[in-house]
Amino acid sequence: DQWPGEPSDPFWRQELDSVEEQLQQGSWAAVAERAEAAAATLRDSARAQWLVARLLDLQAEARRDNRLLSRAITAYLHLLKMNERLSDKKLLEVTNRALDRIKFRGSYLSAEPVYKILIRRFPDKLEYRNNLTISFLMANRADLAEGVLKETLQLWPDDRVALAHYGFILKTQHNRLEEALAAFQKALEGDAGAANEPRFYYHYGDTFLLLGRHAEAHEVHKKGAALGHFLSPAQRSLYNVPRLKSKPWWNIDETPYAKLARALEKSWRDILKEGEAAKAIYEKEKEGLKERGEWSQLDLFVRGQEIPNRCKRAPVTCSIVRAEAAAVGCRRGQIKFSAIEPGTHVRPHVGPTNCRLRMHLGLSNTKDTFIRVDQTTRQWQVGKVFMFDDSFEHEVWHNGTGTRLVLIVDVWHPDLTPSERRTLPAI
Ligand code: LMR
Ligand code: MN
Repeated sequence: DQWPGEPSDPFWRQELDSVEEQLQQGSWAAVAERAEAAAATLRDSARAQWLVARLLDLQAEARRDNRLLSRAITAYLHLLKMNERLSDKKLLEVTNRALDRIKFRGSYLSAEPVYKILIRRFPDKLEYRNNLTISFLMANRADLAEGVLKETLQLWPDDRVALAHYGFILKTQHNRLEEALAAFQKALEGDAGAANEPRFYYHYGDTFLLLGRHAEAHEVHKKGAALGHFLSPAQRSLYNVPRLKSKPWWNIDETPYAKLARALEKSWRDILKEGEAAKAIYEKEKEGLKERGEWSQLDLFVRGQEIPNRCKRAPVTCSIVRAEAAAVGCRRGQIKFSAIEPGTHVRPHVGPTNCRLRMHLGLSNTKDTFIRVDQTTRQWQVGKVFMFDDSFEHEVWHNGTGTRLVLIVDVWHPDLTPSERRTLPAI
């Protein structure tokens, strides 16, 4: 029997049979009330709870309604409290659908009870533990992911996926770089195993960079590129459109953005004034990219949208960039002032995507400041724009005096089609 321990009352048996049949045909509207009534009456019937979860799920899909979807997820979780009554097959059917809906909804913490049940029923299946780890990371709960990983590695000390995630946690949460390296090494060295993923190669190489071990970083980056994880050893963004023209430094006159560059250069004095007048509300860079020093920024546009009311503080700057839709509409970039203090070193790093090019307008104190992009190091000049692709490795030094201010304007890569510019997910 598919449903052990179900009501023997012939009326309810027949009622559940008939509701199930209708739901299977997709005619949820016809049986909605009956399914809800059965679930309310037969509180201990796994089958009745399953049917009402299916009903809500179908309704949510038909109406594209997130509130209904949340109710469907709650109903699946309620049903799964009776998981001992479900056969292996039924349990997998229910959990697969529940997990699919939870991920679609983005409510990753709800996956925890589901994976816990799967781990209890199938204790030898390592993938459930690793998927639970991933759900916690998606929910920004590295602390919870770490707990799962420790348990997983007690049981499977050589599992490469768990080791790679653990390396990631050691690096990003605890700055325990040597231990992170050991974990990444075990996860990724030798043949391409289960942890053969771009993000792990990225963090493995970056751990070497953080330790100043550049030659070993380069070996990892070469291997990552050879495996197809990076566009090249130097261009290591993870969100890419593959066919785009790729080079570290661009001549603005070979792009459609020459007009924007000239307009920025023409008004650099006003732009500088606006950038300086807003000093009080700059925010410190917090991605851990500084090796030493101070670096702060003021966003005007992020992901193709103005930060509310920001342009009131920088009207000239905003009116110039607004004339270029590929700048203010660049959903994979920002427009911002960037202030770097003397003595600062921004360590080698890459941006997240190859879909943008980055313009810098030099504004103040550019003497003895340097930016290396891939193999070529250049200097800013006050009132002048240059352009580079920040998906290539780059690095910044301020060896001079006074705050170096620049305006950064990201623009869509010129090779992207209008439809790509409309539909690529924002970053
Ligand atoms: C970077 O993108 O890392 C740097 O160019 C930022 C800056 O202000 O120079
Ligand atoms: Mn950068």
